[in-house]
Amino acid sequence: MGFKVAVVGATGNVGREILTTLAERNFPADDVVALASSQSVGREVSFGEDDILTVQALDAFDFKGIDIVLSSPGSKVSAVFAPRAAKAGAIVIDNTSHWRMEPDVPLVVPEVNPQAIAGYQKRGIIANPNCSTIQMVVALKPLHDLARIKRVVVSTYQSVSGAGRDAMDELFNQTRSIYVNDPIKPEHLTKQIAFNVIPHIDVFMDDGSTKEEWKMAVETRKILDPDIAVTATCVRVPVFIGHAEAVNVEFERPLGEDRARAALREAPGVVVLDHRADEGYVTPAEAAGDDAVYVSRIRRDPSVPHGLNLWVVSDNLRKGAALNAVQIAEILVTDYLGGRRGGKVEALRRKPVTAVN
Ligand SMILES: NC(=O)c1ccc[n+]([C@@H]2O[C@H](COP(=O)([O-])OP(=O)(O)OC[C@H]3O[C@@H](n4cnc5c(N)ncnc54)[C@H](OP(=O)(O)O)[C@@H]3O)[C@@H](O)[C@H]2O)c1
Repeated sequence: MGFKVAVVGATGNVGREILTTLAERNFPADDVVALASSQSVGREVSFGEDDILTVQALDAFDFKGIDIVLSSPGSKVSAVFAPRAAKAGAIVIDNTSHWRMEPDVPLVVPEVNPQAIAGYQKRGIIANPNCSTIQMVVALKPLHDLARIKRVVVSTYQSVSGAGRDAMDELFNQTRSIYVNDPIKPEHLTKQIAFNVIPHIDVFMDDGSTKEEWKMAVETRKILDPDIAVTATCVRVPVFIGHAEAVNVEFERPLGEDRARAALREAPGVVVLDHRADEGYVTPAEAAGDDAVYVSRIRRDPSVPHGLNLWVVSDNLRKGAALNAVQIAEILVTDYLGGRRGGKVEALRRKPVTAVN
C-alpha cells in the first residue's frame, strides 16, 4: 500500500509542476487526486508520461483517507481548506504565504532545517517558503555554518511564472502587442512587463517595503537563524521561468572566496558554476527545468571586513515550489509516516532526498 495524495491547485503553475515532480521522483503514491476550483471540474491534467487525472472540485472534496496534501491554490483558499483537510487526518504541505509565519507551523527547506518537519503534528500543516527565500537560504546555509552571517542585502530578478499562469500570458501577449503596435494594458501585473522591469511584488507595507521583501527577511530568520538581518529589493523581470538574486553577505568571521566556493560545492542542492569568463555563470533561462540552486559570481566584497557577493539562480516552480514541497513529503513518509502505509517507504530510504537529480 502506498500513500494517498491530493494536489490542490492542480491546474496552476505550481500544481502542474508538483504532479510532474511526484511522477519523476516515483513518490510512493497509490492514489493521486487533482483538485482545483469548481470552474475546472472535469478538466484533465497530466500525471507523469502516461497518466491523466480528471480534476475534482476542492469545495466538495472529502479529505478522509488522504495522507498528504500538496497545495497551491492561493492564500485565501489555503486559509480555509487546510484546517479542514488537517482535521480529516491529512498532512498539508502548503505553498501559499498564509501559514508560513504561524509559530506552530513549520517552515521548511529540507537542505536547511529538515528537523523542523517534526512540528507538523501541532496543526497538521507544513509551510513551503517563498520561492525567492528558498533558493537564497539553500545557498546561505553552508556559508552561515562556516562564518556566521550577520547581514544580507539581496536584490531579486523574479520571473513572471512566480505570479501564476495569468502573468505568464501577460508577458507573452504584451510582447506580441509591442511587435504589432497594439496598445498595452497591464492586467495582472501593475505595469508593463514586456521589455521592462517592475520593482513591486505583492502589496506595499507601512514602512515602504513590499510584502515580498518582508517575506524574504522574516522567512530567512525563521528557517536559518533569527539573528540574521536581511534587507531585500524584489523586482519582476520579463523572464518566463527562473529567479535570479544578487546577494551581498556580511559575516562575523573571515570567509575567503575559495573556502566559500569549496563549501558550496559540497552543499546539498547546490551547483557551483563560477568561472570568470564569458560563459562562466548561470542565467535563469539555463536553470529553468532543473532542480539545482546555481551559485555563480562568488567574490569578495571589499567594502566590509568580512563580505562576499553571490549570484544565485534557480527554477522558481521547481526548487522554489514543487520540488521543495515534494522533498518535504518524502522526508515525511520516510521518517514520520512509515507506520501508516508500510512497505513503500523503504524505496525512499535509499534515496538521498536532498540530492540534485
Ligand atoms: N509560482 C511560483 O513560483 C510560486 C512559488 C511559491 C509559491 N507560490 C504560491 O502558490 C500559489 C499558486 O501559485 P501558481 O503560480 O500555481 O498560481 P496559478 O498558476 O494562478 O494557479 C492557481 C491554482 O489555484 C487554483 N485555485 C484558485 N482558486 C481556487 C479555489 N477557490 N479553490 C480551489 N482551487 C483554486 C486554480 O484552479 P483553477 O484553474 O480552477 O482556477 C489553480 O489551479 C500562490 O499562493 C503562490 O503565491 C507560487
